[in-house]
Amino acid sequence: MTAFLELDKVTKRYGEHTVLDDVSLEVSRHEVVTLIGASGSGKSTLLRCLNGLEPIQGGEIRLDGDVISGDGVDLVRIRRRIGIVFQAFNLFPHMSVLKNCTLTPVRAKVATKAEAEKSALAMLERVGLADKAHAHPAQLSGGQQQRVAIARAMLMRPEVLLLDEITSALDPELVIEVLNLVRELADTGVTMVMTTHEMPFAREISSTICFLSSGRILEQGPPERIFTDPRTPQLQSFLGRLHEAGRT
Ligand SMILES: Nc1ncnc2c1ncn2[C@@H]1O[C@H](COP(=O)(O)OP(=O)(O)OP(=O)(O)O)[C@@H](O)[C@H]1O
Ligand SMILES: [Mg+2]
Repeated sequence: MTAFLELDKVTKRYGEHTVLDDVSLEVSRHEVVTLIGASGSGKSTLLRCLNGLEPIQGGEIRLDGDVISGDGVDLVRIRRRIGIVFQAFNLFPHMSVLKNCTLTPVRAKVATKAEAEKSALAMLERVGLADKAHAHPAQLSGGQQQRVAIARAMLMRPEVLLLDEITSALDPELVIEVLNLVRELADTGVTMVMTTHEMPFAREISSTICFLSSGRILEQGPPERIFTDPRTPQLQSFLGRLHEAGRT
């Protein structure tokens, strides 16, 4: 297994507070890696460091052999290569769905306006929202808005897609349509690193699960191993709490 995306002894601090402590992780091309762990364990921070939204204080991050952390890196280029979708979809409310999808590719000169619209319409078709191209975000359900946000990220043709709790803000009946889309992206070989509270989904879709605790990866492995044979007391108690809450 050759690493496509690689974190090498990454340390992230906010002032005195070490939020990621010597984290190393290798993600292969086409792999889906899910980060799990208690609130505050560092999952979102890790994703934010991966696409350059947060500087790191130690270690190195590499993508396809290129160093993408540290001084002098081209943040615009990194964010083009690594897309991110958040819990709050962050669509522009005053623009149509189509415009939301074409704005960045056109601005970044990835495509002309006509090309961008053609790709956007094809992508909206793929996420089941072709008929909403001219609607505004407020006219869409949360699940539909989140699918637009994913379509928008995919239109930049990222090499890696990061998904941070993308179903957490959705009503339960809307979660499934977003998870189905993520499953389809995984099936087509999109490399993803994600965080989710949907444990059965994480178990089904992930090739690797990483358990974070206080900014360290305490355990990582295939889902079956992590969920059925937790080896650290921290993971045992985390899974126990999830089980009690009926979330496993
Ligand atoms: N901008 C910031 N400034 C200072 N501390 C921060 C900042 N962002 C996050 N932290 C701290 O970093 C730690 C990790 O936060 P992070 O958001 O990565 O956790 P998480 O695992 O994503 O949690 P959750 O499951 O609640 O989303 C927390 O202690 C948090 O308070
Ligand atoms: Mg988080």
